[in-house]
Amino acid sequence: MTQTLTLRRPDDWHLHLRDGAMLQAVLPETARHFARAIIMPNLVPPVVTGDQAAAYRDRIMAALPDGMTFEPLMTLYLTEDTDPDDVAQAAASGLVKAVKLYPAGATTNSASGVRDFDKVRPVLERMADIGLPLCVHGEVTDADIDIFDREAVFIDRVLDPVRRATPGLRVVMEHITTANGVDYVKSNDTDLGATITTHHLIINRNHILVGGIKPHYYCLPVAKREEHRLALRAAATSGDDRFFLGTDSAPHTDALKEHPCGCAGCFTATNTMALLAHVFEEENALDKLEGFASRNGPGFYKLPVNIDTITLTKSETATKFPAKIDMGEGTVTVFDPGFPVYWNVTA
Ligand code: NCD
Ligand code: ZN
Repeated sequence: MTQTLTLRRPDDWHLHLRDGAMLQAVLPETARHFARAIIMPNLVPPVVTGDQAAAYRDRIMAALPDGMTFEPLMTLYLTEDTDPDDVAQAAASGLVKAVKLYPAGATTNSASGVRDFDKVRPVLERMADIGLPLCVHGEVTDADIDIFDREAVFIDRVLDPVRRATPGLRVVMEHITTANGVDYVKSNDTDLGATITTHHLIINRNHILVGGIKPHYYCLPVAKREEHRLALRAAATSGDDRFFLGTDSAPHTDALKEHPCGCAGCFTATNTMALLAHVFEEENALDKLEGFASRNGPGFYKLPVNIDTITLTKSETATKFPAKIDMGEGTVTVFDPGFPVYWNVTA
């Protein structure tokens, strides 16, 4: 018996595409299913100015295989030297859809991030004026804060004060991993949304550490306790339009993942939609998947919902996803949920 589900074509509101050979290898994995994605600017060096974002967009479009369509929604990496006029210009031209805040040192390629929030106040105020969203990597980086507490502490010490000091600033809490993140979003009426990744709906911290260390499950923010995974599942499948999909699909070569100091990031672009259908079905919420993956994100970003559709089909045999994507010099491992999945995107 087969079951099908047709949705408006989804978008990915948090995606790492990298550059060069890696970009070439991973872009089709996203463009196959997704119409648009918010493109993370944490290249080396980061995408800081409007000119750099335009050049990066051109490289992305040049890497798109013939016959595929895809619209990259560009972001600027916020630094203490970011020029508010440059941000406003890049937004007004339609090129840039958000600015990304990385606390300095929080994650991969975040050394140029913000240390002193007073220094970025003029940029944040301009963004509030023009309605340009701030995408936030919500973790403090203080050495004395336990890595599993860094999101909760960030909300209290940084996010809430910044939002109070900048009325009207529209904020996306990206890749929330805790019940604290869910609760903070729910306690605010406007101007605040959150993305949730596919993998954080599937793994908790035991998956990373029990029975041997699993480098392909290591990402930042790191997966938390089971109670937090359940809170994320409840939020994603609730129909609350403040929660939407941002895969944070973050490719690193296997050599750098399977390493004494392995990189953070799960690569989920290839199988995200099938995995989400599995998760939403488990939660008896298949009717909420279109909201989460295709409607709530455009709603927050004030963009139209995609016109065309994708169809997912559930069959009796488990779907075979590629284990790895070859990128010439090395491979990238596709996220393995650890259970058979019967859904696949079929049209
Ligand atoms: C991201 C990356 O590799 O660029 N890694 C990750 O674990 N998510 C950076 C990020 O979004 O934190
Ligand atoms: Zn990310």
